[in-house]
This record gives sequence, C-alpha cells and structure tokens, in this order.
Amino acid sequence: MANPLRDFFLGTISGQQTPKKELTDALTPRRSFADVILPASTRQQLEYALVQIKKSDLIFGTWGLGERHATGLGLAFNFAGPPGTGKTICAEAVAFEIGKRLLIVRYAEMESLWAGETSKNVTAVFRLAQETDAVLFFDEADAIASRRFGSVTQGYQREANAVVNVLLKELEEFDGVVIFATNLASNFDPAFERRIRTHILFEMPDAPAREEIWKVQLHARKTPLADDVDFKTLAEKYNVAGGDIKNAVLKAAQIASTENVPDAQKQIHQRHFLAGIEEVLKSKTVMEQSIVDGDGSNRGPMDAGTMSQISTAFTQLATNQSAMGEDLRTLGERSEAIEGQFSALPELFQNWEAAQNAARLELHDELAGQIEKSSSHALELRTDFARVDERIHSALAQTKIALIIAVLGVLVGIGGIVAALVVR
Ligand SMILES: Nc1ncnc2c1ncn2[C@@H]1O[C@H](COP(=O)(O)OP(=O)(O)OP(=O)(O)O)[C@@H](O)[C@H]1O
Ligand SMILES: [Mg+2]
Repeated sequence: MANPLRDFFLGTISGQQTPKKELTDALTPRRSFADVILPASTRQQLEYALVQIKKSDLIFGTWGLGERHATGLGLAFNFAGPPGTGKTICAEAVAFEIGKRLLIVRYAEMESLWAGETSKNVTAVFRLAQETDAVLFFDEADAIASRRFGSVTQGYQREANAVVNVLLKELEEFDGVVIFATNLASNFDPAFERRIRTHILFEMPDAPAREEIWKVQLHARKTPLADDVDFKTLAEKYNVAGGDIKNAVLKAAQIASTENVPDAQKQIHQRHFLAGIEEVLKSKTVMEQSIVDGDGSNRGPMDAGTMSQISTAFTQLATNQSAMGEDLRTLGERSEAIEGQFSALPELFQNWEAAQNAARLELHDELAGQIEKSSSHALELRTDFARVDERIHSALAQTKIALIIAVLGVLVGIGGIVAALVVR
C-alpha cells in the first residue's frame, strides 16, 4: 500500500533511498482471442487494430514515415463498455497476438499525495513500456484520463489537470501500443479522445454469445459435466455479462464439489449452474442496494410510489448529468482553445523577434548607406574647398605680379619724368 508519509521520512529525512514502488504489473499473456466470444463487429474492429499494430513497422520503419514524423507514432486504443464484457481479456489477447508482455498500470501506486509525483509516475510507466517493449494497459482509465477542470480553484484540480496534460504529452511521444479500458468513456477528456486511434465498443452479449461464453469457461476435457446441463436455457434466461457467467461457473463448481459423494463421481449439474448464477445476481443486488441505501439499515419493502419516485429521480439525475457533460465538454474545448493560443505564443514571439532583427538590419543598412553617401559628399566638398583655395592662391599671386608690374611701371614713369626734367 502506498504510504507517501513513510516514503517522505524514510527517503528524505534519513537520506536513504526508498524501495522503488512497482507502478505496473508485468503479465506474460496466456489468453488469446480463441478464449473470447465477441460479436462480429467488435471482433472485426479488434482485427483491424491488430493489423494496424502489425503494419506499423512497415509504415514507420520501411516506408520511412518514422523519420519524417517525430511524434504521434504510437497506437492507442480504447476499449469501452459495461463491466465484464471482455475488455481486460482482449487487452491480454492483443499482447498475446503480437508476442509482447502486458504492463498493467497500478493506480493505487501511481496516485500520490505529493504535488507533481503522480505526473512523474505517469512518465515513468511510459518509459518502462518503451524500455521493455511491452503493451501498456490502463484499465479503468477514466480514473486518470477524465476531463480537465475548466477553472482551477483547488490544488487537487490543478494536480488532476497536470496529470492529464502529462498523459497527453507522453501519449504523443510514445511509439508503442497503449490500451485504455473504461466503463465511462463519456468522462474522457476530449483532447485525450482525439489522440486515441481507435475506440472499440464492447457490448453486452446476446443469447447465442452468452451460450458460447458459458461453454468457454469450462475445461474442454477435464470439467465433469452432467448430462442435464443445458447452456442454451441458461443463456436465454439470464441476460448477464461474461464476467457474471465466469463467476457463476466458479460458484457452480464450488457447490458441486461439496456434494456428499466421492470426488470421482462428482459432476456439475444444471442445478449447480442455476444456483451459481442466482448467487451472482443476489450479490450484485446487494452491492447495488448498498450503494443506494447507504448503510443498509432501516430497509423495508418498497411500494410502487417509492419505486416511481426513485425512477424519476434517476431520470432527472441522468438529464442533469448529460447537461453537465455538455457544459464540461464546452469548458474542455475552451480550455483547449486557450491552450492552443498559448502554445502559439512562443512562435509569435519568435516571429516578432525575427521581424525586429530584420527591421534592425534594414535600418542599419540604410544608415550605413546614408553615412557612406554623406562621407562621399564631404569628400567632394573638401575637394571643392581645395580647388577654391588653389584659385584664391593663384588669384593672389596674379594680383601680386600685377602690383609689382604696376609699381615697376610707376617707377619707370617717375624715372622717365625725372630724366626729362634733368635733360631740360
Ligand atoms: N466476451 C467474453 N468471452 C469470453 N469470456 C468472457 C467474455 N467477457 C467476459 N468474459 C469472462 O469474464 C471475465 C472478466 O472479463 P473482463 O475482465 O475481460 O471484463 P472487463 O470488460 O474488463 O470488465 P471490467 O469493466 O469490470 O474491468 C474474463 O476473464 C472472462 O473469463
Ligand atoms: Mg477490466
């Protein structure tokens, strides 16, 4: 029995490793489809499931699709139907057909009081199935794959949602065979349903099927059957599931074994089977009544009025449940849509960052162009300045020469005047 408190103290405080909890039961399958009586449609669906499993190596290996797609390569099946209709035995038969072991998940060990621990356990069982190449089997899977809570106000809701999220992720990444079995498929999370390749419905057996199921519960050679045994009558009289028939056969054998005759003469008679099935039905009624009546005290005969009130209450309950189911479905879908938007966010951020980088590069290029252009303008300006400077210099030089010539001219003129005066 799981004891998180003990695990915590032994594992953490004393610093010792707690013994690893067994999260699964590994079963070497012995029962095959030859042991199961099923309607043609269910059998056909199971055969198709087997073909899918057997051909997955061809599709993902030889045809290379496994290299093109990293996720969604696994094969997940859901066996849904009322109790005792053969879901568990068929999971075993699938594993038997493909020659693998069946890894049956143990919920009692998976569930942990510690936040995040159950999710880790979910991951661990998928790893184990991968490593041991086994068929992973979640029996009564609605316990773990139920709808996520739309609005989370309590810790347990957050934890349950986290477990479903991890289950979805693992399912996406797992490339083996997973089988879920449930009595309440309508309780499944919609996102979870979509990741399941095939849903196979297990129906209550009809009379001819029940007759075969009665027969298949016995050993073909060793079980001593009396001549008065008539399975057809039993099948027609009792509209029950295979699980009930199995229990009835075991009870019949027990009753027959206690008869007051030597063992070698003991046989199972029709009366034993009748007593067996009646006992099964009686214990089922007791179970149902104890659910309805609480502790079972103060129980008296029920009148027609009370019966009708109860029936109305049940109808109302069913209506409410289906309305609630719709609400939950909408909520589930909404939360999925939001989740989708959230998951798109990283890509948006990435795109945004890429756009920013592109804009930055563009701006950078443009600025560099402008700077280059400005510097070539500056160069041209400097050349112009130099040219003007040169011109100014040459103009100044010319002016200087002109001035010298003018001064010389003046001096020559003065000299001429002076010479003329002297001659006179
Ligand atoms: N269709 C069937 N053919 C032969 N045997 C059956 C069939 N259905 C049930 N049985 C017998 O009943 C037993 C119980 O069936 P099983 O455990 O497969 O039912 P289940 O659908 O898994 O029930 P639950 O929902 O209660 O887990 C089987 O071991 C088998 O002996
Ligand atoms: Mg079962």
